[in-house]
Parts: sequence; structure tokens; C-alpha cells
Amino acid sequence: MNTFKVAIFGGGTVGGGVARILRENSALLERRAGCPVELVTILDLFPSASSKRHGIPLELYCGNGGDLNRDEASKYMAQILSNPEIDAVVETIGGSSDYILQVVLDILHSKKHLITANKALLAKHGTAIMRAAVENQRAIGFEASVCGAIPVIKGINDCMSGDKIESVSGIMNGTSNYILTKMSREGLSFYEALKGAQAMGYAEADPTLDINGGDAGHKLAILLRILYGIETQPGDIPVSGIDTINAEDTRIAEETDAVIKLICYAQREQNGVCATVQPMMVKKSNVLSDINNATNAIKLVGAYSRENLFVGQGAGSLETGSAIVSDIVYIARYGTASLRDYPSSGLSLVSFDSHVMPYTIIFDTEDVPGITGIVTTAIGKQEINIDTVSHNMRVSGQAGALFSIVTKPCTLTQIKAAVRDMQQTAPSIFVKEPKIIPVLA
Ligand code: HSE
Repeated sequence: MNTFKVAIFGGGTVGGGVARILRENSALLERRAGCPVELVTILDLFPSASSKRHGIPLELYCGNGGDLNRDEASKYMAQILSNPEIDAVVETIGGSSDYILQVVLDILHSKKHLITANKALLAKHGTAIMRAAVENQRAIGFEASVCGAIPVIKGINDCMSGDKIESVSGIMNGTSNYILTKMSREGLSFYEALKGAQAMGYAEADPTLDINGGDAGHKLAILLRILYGIETQPGDIPVSGIDTINAEDTRIAEETDAVIKLICYAQREQNGVCATVQPMMVKKSNVLSDINNATNAIKLVGAYSRENLFVGQGAGSLETGSAIVSDIVYIARYGTASLRDYPSSGLSLVSFDSHVMPYTIIFDTEDVPGITGIVTTAIGKQEINIDTVSHNMRVSGQAGALFSIVTKPCTLTQIKAAVRDMQQTAPSIFVKEPKIIPVLA
């Protein structure tokens, strides 16, 4: 029985977790893979620190235990890639630079299977990477790239392959979800909550992509490829993050029986698929409203299977590591038979602006007579039906008016036209640009 031999590039949080699971769980992995799975070597710039942090023997690291410079790392990388005994390489260096793209392409061109959690790279260069895999007849495992431990990729590719997925709505960034939970439940400010997420280790080293929606956008781009055969380019999916959400918005959500969540959303429409990542008012009747702290969840609605919910941990060393190890076992078991390409289906993205759903509009205005009339008239002129108009949430003694309107289903195009109209009618009374937030029923 041949041993399936694995190398890891990048022994940080996720790579270290992979190494630990491969060592701790080897007997069970062998039974599942149908052959022994051996971790042969780890390439990391800081072997000693990584070894201590993850409890991995230093001998498993490239070099003599001292920190490596870039040239030394390149030399060891070349040695690993030219070693015919190594079957697969786990890339857990991260990032989407040209350098990382080249590393990943080199892994495939060296006839090694590739396992990666690198959502930014797959979102940006997925087509080139998939093409290299097919050309070299090597498999790519990327289960860990979308929501860490949650088996959504295999769920879609294997378990739901008999279905047509009509919509996706999910909480796919743990940092944002943690921040929003702390803001709404404990009244923390955005920045207090962000510090907590960093202390818990959920946030990326630079949390910009967590809070501006970029990280969630990468995950949705990967799902669009496997669900609908749509290849997106950066910027194709409209993305906004939770950095615009404040404590008043979370109070308004509460008043309208909703909770604000950063939602990855895609819906199959007649002419294509509309997709977006943005904060949404999730009604409390929707199970996603109950997904709190750093937990992730993805709801897939199939034409035949109907509603399916995947819930679990989207980040963390062993959590994400477990998904990578599941890919290693899968590839060890099925070899090149586990190779999939994801050809373009010809479907394309359609504008989210034409998608019909309810909206909440939050107004921060001067407190003057007639303001409610001005905004409701503009909304009515766009043929938008209003569901509720809230009271002024600024208490006496506070300047201005803060109120919200929840609409019946309509398009963002209609809402934007109404907002333009009301601002033209009474330009001086809007203290802030009205905030437009979709409602997820
Ligand atoms: N920083 C990410 C999150 C983890 O907060 O969900 C992996 O994408």
C-alpha cells in the first residue's frame, strides 16, 4: 500500500493546525484514505516559533531550526517540488500576490495535488488555477476556503449534485458576525467589538478585508463558480461591509424585528444570477438571525431539496485545518479521480439593482414639520409600497430626527430614485445620506 505523502507550505495558524491533525489523527486518516497519510515536511520562515506554537517536532521543518530568509525558503520549495515522492502540497501561506499565484501554479506544474484555504487567491485567479490543475491532471482541494470547517464545498459538489440551487444566503465572515453580535447584544461600539474579534483570533492580520466585506466577497465568488459556473472578476460582485453600521442602526433593526448581519447573497433569476455582499436586516423569523458571534452559516435553497442549512466554525487553526485534512484524505483516496474542473456555464451575473426584495431606509434629518410627508411622497412616486414608518428614535433633548421606513418588495433602482427625489425636494434637511439596507425575510 503506497503512502500518500504531504508537504505544507506555511506553518502558521492554519498550516500548523493541519500538521497537528495529520499527526494526532493518523490511524483514523489511514482507514479513511485507504492508505497511510504522512506529513513529510513543513516549510515555514520561522520553524522554531511554529514548532513550539503547534507542538510539532522541529525535525519536520525545512532547515536547521533557525529562521529562513526568502532565498533559503525558495531553495527548500524547489527541493520539495522536485521530490517525486511527495504527492500533495498544502498551501497555507495566504494572500493573492503574483508570488503566491506562482507558488500555487508551480505546485500543480510539478505534478503535485494542491490543497489550499486561500479564498483571496481562488477568487482572483480561480480560472488560471483550475486550468493548471486540468492541464497537469492534479486535483485541487479548497474546502477550507469557504467558511473554514463547514463542509459546504463537498456538500454542493457531492451531496447536492442532483439539485438546482436557487439561492444562497449566508454569514461567511466570523469577524463581522462577532462584531455585529457584540454591538447588538452588549451595546459595544464598533471598535470595541473589533478589538475583541482580534483578541479572539478571528480577524485576519489586517482586518480590513473582514470589515469591508472583501473576505466574504471572495467566498461568494468561489461559490458562484461551483454552484453556477460563473467566473467573476474582482469588482463584479457588489460588496459593502459592516464598517458603515452603527449602534443606532442596530437599534432600528431591533425595532423592526430584525438583526443586522453581513450577508452573502445570490439568487438565480431568469437571465442569470444576482449576487451581493452587504449588511442586511435579517428578520428574526429567518434562522440566520440566530447565528451569533464568530459562527458561520450558509443557507442553500434547492429546487428539489428545498432549504439546507450548513452551520459551523468559519475560522480557527484546527477548525480550518480539519477541512484541509478532509481534502487530503479525499485526494489520497480518489487520486486524480477527484479532479474536477468548473467550466463556465455561460450564465452571467445580473445587476442586483433590479432584484426585488424589501428594504429598510434609515433617515437622519432635521426635525422639521413635513419631513415624513416629503420622504413618503417620494417613495410613493416610485410605486413603492410602504410597510412601516417608525417613530422618531431621537429622545427629547437630542437634536434631529432618526426614523426608518420599511418597504414592501421593490428594486434598489426604485429606492435610489426615491432617495434622489426627496433630496432634491428638501436638500437641507438630510443630515446624512439615507442608509439603504435590504431586508432578508
Ligand atoms: N477572518 C475570517 C473570518 C476567517 O473572520 O471569518 C477566514 O476567512
